[in-house]
Amino acid sequence: MGLSDKKRIFSGIQPSGYPTLGNYVGAIKNWAALSRRFECVFSVVDMHAVTVRQNPDELRRKAVEMFALLAAAGIDPEKHVVYFQSHVPAHAELAWILGCHTYMGELSRMTQFKDKSARHADNINAGLFTYPVLMAADILLYQADLVPVGEDQKQHIELTRDVAERFNNLYGDIFTIPEGYILEVGARIMSLQEPDKKMSKSDTANPGNVVSLLDPPDIIMKKFKRAVTDSGADVRYAADKPGVSNLLTIYAAMTGRTIPEAEAEFAGFGYGAFKAAVGESVVAAFKPLREEFERLLADQGYLDGIIRANAGRAAALAAPTIARVKRAVGFSA
Ligand code: TRP
Repeated sequence: MGLSDKKRIFSGIQPSGYPTLGNYVGAIKNWAALSRRFECVFSVVDMHAVTVRQNPDELRRKAVEMFALLAAAGIDPEKHVVYFQSHVPAHAELAWILGCHTYMGELSRMTQFKDKSARHADNINAGLFTYPVLMAADILLYQADLVPVGEDQKQHIELTRDVAERFNNLYGDIFTIPEGYILEVGARIMSLQEPDKKMSKSDTANPGNVVSLLDPPDIIMKKFKRAVTDSGADVRYAADKPGVSNLLTIYAAMTGRTIPEAEAEFAGFGYGAFKAAVGESVVAAFKPLREEFERLLADQGYLDGIIRANAGRAAALAAPTIARVKRAVGFSA
């Protein structure tokens, strides 16, 4: 494949809350690996974030932190387009038009909407309902070929494909039909205390559940030492051992080992020593990341400049598509 026909990757990450080990393994680390092979457009999706109530100053800070973290993780913001969703108005414009081509019934079936409206029963706003339409707009605006996401976003990718096909059937070949790219290892990192639940940064009830990328080493070690394992004593990946399986997944992701290699390595280990080794693998992987993150955040001038430049680059990439869409549906120039 020549450079010019490299596939284009698009993905988005929410800036709400401190990035977790789950975000790192499920998204950021995979994105960094993909950025070595593909042309990437990565969005800090602050517009998606306001579907739940945010503290404005905190949201602004978290968006910048997420940007710095992506750069620290090895996604070069000079080579790739890493930008804030709210900086490119075409997202909102396309979302409106796609929303007029998406059925209430389709959106009602989205499991994430059902989950989130149960969790935020006091604020079931229309944005929460149309969230997948904005996500479809993100992806289609950049004519993405591949969309790396966690398992929980598969249904939204399917909807994006359906809406894109419907649109193309009505108006001609406007959108690339994107493929979801679900990565196996680490697609789902579970809570350390309740390993049947996803590790979620919005889980503030029990901070021991969640490892943050910015936790200092002693806190990381403490959380792993207290992680829930299972009955039995062997370190084995199995459906009836969700705690141990989750720890093996984390270790494999941190060290680049496969699950069977990790199992072999821990043969004969007690759970205490196993948990400490997993914690150490996380501490080792996060150290350079945290240092680079802190270095970048201290350089506000550089961050402001690169964020502004990338807003312009993203808008330029989106411009031809939104222009074609507007023309196709009958808006005058
Ligand atoms: N909804 C995604 C999530 O919560 C984030 C997201 C927004 C996204 N827009 C996207 C992911 C476009 C991939 C492509 O994880």
